[in-house]
Amino acid sequence: MTRLILFLLALGFLPQTPSLAPYVPTPEDVVDRILTLAQVKAGDVVYDLGCGDGRIPIAAAKRGARGVGVDIDPRRIEESNANAKAAGVERLVEFRLQDAMTVDVSPATVVTLYLLSSSNAKLRPILTRQLKPGARIVSHAFSMGSDWPAEKVDRFVTARGDEVTLYLWRTDGTPRK
Ligand SMILES: C[S@@+](CC[C@H](N)C(=O)[O-])C[C@H]1O[C@@H](n2cnc3c(N)ncnc32)[C@H](O)[C@@H]1O
Repeated sequence: MTRLILFLLALGFLPQTPSLAPYVPTPEDVVDRILTLAQVKAGDVVYDLGCGDGRIPIAAAKRGARGVGVDIDPRRIEESNANAKAAGVERLVEFRLQDAMTVDVSPATVVTLYLLSSSNAKLRPILTRQLKPGARIVSHAFSMGSDWPAEKVDRFVTARGDEVTLYLWRTDGTPRK
């Protein structure tokens, strides 16, 4: 199915979904830090909007949570499914070929993002309208704008020597534009 979609995309038969960010995978040590910042544990439902190769939902599943990954690139969804199988967590994760802007995130207790500031701004009204109060949002590198300061900011140097900033917000049921 994914191969057919790839083929049709290549031929220009399917409409292109607007990209929210290019593919840049989060290093594994940063993935761990994201899940720790969000205090992911068994019982959580972790959505990664723009999931790349599925590493965040897969790492969440290794902590006993359920993971959902969404990406517009069929190659990423294929990789995600293969990686989940290799990690033995395929029953705890689900990967969908879908535009992040159209996802119903209401089942999520945690949403992770590694997109762009402009993409966070587009998703913010959807997230704050749909998520239950107390849900956590963690964004790698990009804030939600000065009018929604993060509850926590985690700045550190990765194993590779890069400086990284993670932002954590907790929803309170108030919709934000
Ligand atoms: C910077 S990567 C992050 C990958 C992964 N979340 C991680 O942290 O390793 C951004 C991902 O978002 C995906 N993406 C871009 N626009 C999207 C959209 N409209 N809907 C869903 N995914 C999208 C890209 O294909 C890419 O895999």
